[in-house]
Amino acid sequence: MTPRASLPSRIPPARRGPVGRGPRVGVVGLGYVGIATGVAFAAHGTRVVGYDVQGARRDQVARGDSPIYEPGLDRLLRRVVRAKRLTVASHVAELVGESDLLFVCVPTPSAPDGSVDLRFVEEAVGDLALVLRKAPGWKAVVVKSTVVPGTTEGLVREVLVRESGREIGPRLGLAANPEFLAEGSLVADALHPSRVVIGCSDRRTARMLRAAYRGFPSPVVELSPTAAELVKYASNAFLASRISFANEMAALCEATGTDVDAVMQAVGMDPRLGPRFLRAGPGFGGSCFTKDLRALLAAAGARGVELPLSEAALTVNERQPRHVAELAERLLGDLAGKEVALLGLSFKADTGDVRESRAYPILEELLRRGARVRLHDPRSLDAFLESLPPPLHGRISREILPMRTLREAVEGADLAVIQTDWKEYVRAGPAIWRSLRGPGVLDTRRCLYPRTLRAAGKVYAAVGRPPPALPAAEDPEAGRSPGDLRKPAISR
Ligand code: UDX
Repeated sequence: MTPRASLPSRIPPARRGPVGRGPRVGVVGLGYVGIATGVAFAAHGTRVVGYDVQGARRDQVARGDSPIYEPGLDRLLRRVVRAKRLTVASHVAELVGESDLLFVCVPTPSAPDGSVDLRFVEEAVGDLALVLRKAPGWKAVVVKSTVVPGTTEGLVREVLVRESGREIGPRLGLAANPEFLAEGSLVADALHPSRVVIGCSDRRTARMLRAAYRGFPSPVVELSPTAAELVKYASNAFLASRISFANEMAALCEATGTDVDAVMQAVGMDPRLGPRFLRAGPGFGGSCFTKDLRALLAAAGARGVELPLSEAALTVNERQPRHVAELAERLLGDLAGKEVALLGLSFKADTGDVRESRAYPILEELLRRGARVRLHDPRSLDAFLESLPPPLHGRISREILPMRTLREAVEGADLAVIQTDWKEYVRAGPAIWRSLRGPGVLDTRRCLYPRTLRAAGKVYAAVGRPPPALPAAEDPEAGRSPGDLRKPAISR
């Protein structure tokens, strides 16, 4: 993920002369990755054609209407559609006919054993290959979906050659080109990637990909397809390990009466380490880290390679929701019969995505201890409820209580647990927290202002901070803002 760059207020001008010069881009799969990729190429001046197997999604994107919530995406999509830089094909043959580089951006979910399920990649490449059999001119298939090392040169090549009847060579190219997009900053990450990693075994595809990315302000790294695929997994495994490391330190900070943000900030000042992805919290969620770690472990295991560090990153992450429930117990004692407000269901703020959100295991831990749990999220309550597994779904309205407003969720609850650092929670005034029946708030993200809780006469407890001294009014730390705590006094 690149630092949040500001989103353009206008489409950047085409940098290589008129739109349409250079390779034409086709995008298969109009989910997070496909839409962001298409919009970014279009915004940088390339002609883009998108395609998705779902007709409703094709129609929606063709209207310039984003099927996913992501800051800035709606506006930019509308602009590139209006400018006819991004169009949508109604079938694969049309997509292939109008594109030179065919980016495969379909999902690669987890199989039940944790390995990567390549079914959609296989289907998408198979569909493209059948059209490529008869398509005139040079074309290349570019795998942007996250696939385990060896997939492009193995399964993808095999399907492509078999179904198209063409060899990889003068008329057909093949490449891996992983993305590093993070939700919440999808558009900025797509427009300004920290690096463009191109994995090609033939020169022409490498040249064409470089030409397609010419308008992007990003360094290009050329590797083999398998090395490019590995860069994606290594990046995610390393980022996830940093978060788990911060969470491990958070537990030690709680036990030693220290503040994890102050400690990790000073750690991150070492230029060899850098400050990012050292924020302790409820553990990492989202569609990538857990899935990719599991897939990496399975792929390495299949080759007889052990990855104990990556395995530990997952183990620490799986333990963190239990730790959150234990912190709740420290505040409330036995949770049986207590009512806890779980605030924030998205896996992080600024996204409506609930995939692998830590809210699921935290909810389970609280229920297992006998609590009734009120659920609130400014954006993703419905998505969260819909995706609850059947045994939990059956408990909605009994032990699981969906709440439409923050006030409804908090008023009369025994404890509020912040899972996502939504602005609505950070900005909530003392009146909201005063309406709690119980002692206060457990902030897994340390995003609230302790002084707000103090003003409400409530206790502020957090992951990675010493347990609060009750009552809050006597807590000397309570007046410090999260900003103060994140920025310890630094003198030069
Ligand atoms: C991630 C990678 O950043 C991206 O490069 C990759 O392509 C896909 O996976 P994403 O899952 O969208 O992106 O979000 P990210 O911002 O990386 O956060 C992942 C999870 O880690 C979230 O639950 C977030 O809250 C958590 N996190 C992140 C922390 O707990 N602490 C941190 O310091 C950073």
